[in-house]
Amino acid sequence: MSAIHKVAIFGASGNFGTPITAALQRAPAFAITIITRPESTSTFPPGLPVIRTPYTLADLTAALTGQDAAICVVGPGGIPAQATMVEAAAAAGVQRFIIDDFGWGHNPHSLPEFSAIHAQRRVGWDLAQQTARENPGFTFTGITTGNPIDWAMKKFPMMGFDIAHEAATIYDSGTEKFTGTTLAGIGQAVVGVLLHPEETANRFVKVLSIVTSQNELLEAFQRASGRQWTVQRDSAQRLMESGHRKFEGGNGMWRLELVVAQMFDEGQARCVVAPSWSDSDSPLLGVAEESADEVVAKVLQV
Ligand SMILES: NC(=O)c1ccc[n+]([C@@H]2O[C@H](COP(=O)([O-])OP(=O)(O)OC[C@H]3O[C@@H](n4cnc5c(N)ncnc54)[C@H](OP(=O)(O)O)[C@@H]3O)[C@@H](O)[C@H]2O)c1
Repeated sequence: MSAIHKVAIFGASGNFGTPITAALQRAPAFAITIITRPESTSTFPPGLPVIRTPYTLADLTAALTGQDAAICVVGPGGIPAQATMVEAAAAAGVQRFIIDDFGWGHNPHSLPEFSAIHAQRRVGWDLAQQTARENPGFTFTGITTGNPIDWAMKKFPMMGFDIAHEAATIYDSGTEKFTGTTLAGIGQAVVGVLLHPEETANRFVKVLSIVTSQNELLEAFQRASGRQWTVQRDSAQRLMESGHRKFEGGNGMWRLELVVAQMFDEGQARCVVAPSWSDSDSPLLGVAEESADEVVAKVLQV
């Protein structure tokens, strides 16, 4: 497999596309092209070529011709287009397609309510796998990054940390372990995959910056602020039941409630990508191991 130089990205200005594009820009090995929809209102870093095109097979094949790799990091609305992107990449002779995981991969511990969402994502993943089997010039990688920890803690107080009010909600004992990858780690994971095409071909890589728990994070928040935080208690089971009820009732909040409930479901280890940093693909990809203090510093920065 020859070295990857020309890289196209779908979803470049999204929550994850932004740090991924920034990491690619910092890596001297890559020349980046952004591909976007005609109706997109996204804005992109100055100086990068942007191809604005309908997401048809013919148009995407033309857009991807000459690229060594393509990265799909579109949000939920773009997931149905992923299979066409894969097909176009293979037709254009792209060597590596990074499928849209950036989540939990094929997680056997995921709650059944997420099956329909996962099934939609798997259409593109399965096509990439099948295409790689049939076409030796085409390879894929899924990047399983688990909880996007610094971004998620800032965005979703339901994860237990209300930063503005220095208040924490600790589920059960607060000791349930889960894994997280920072936005910097997610960006580096993509760079690492493209720098190690042989070792990352046709598989899901498992990435993490930290294995932690709510109690460890609370201690880090308190160390950083120099104050005790107000702590209230909740249970993952209560949140799970509330999420189930919302799912049944068609209330979209079920997703967040069940994402958080399954992360803190005591004793279940539902949200552990790998047992430790050294057991993951992070060392291979150059994704740094981060302490709770380092992660919390990133959360408090903005
Ligand atoms: N593990 C987790 O907890 C977690 C959390 C968040 C996200 N994720 C995953 O990370 C990936 C990226 O998510 P994100 O939050 O970064 O996405 P996002 O910010 O919601 O969207 C990223 C980009 O997707 C493109 N897009 C949106 N709607 C589209 C449509 N209908 N058709 C085609 N493209 C469309 C847009 O790019 P253009 O405007 O340039 O076309 C948009 O900027 C997804 O797979 C998501 O599930 C995981």
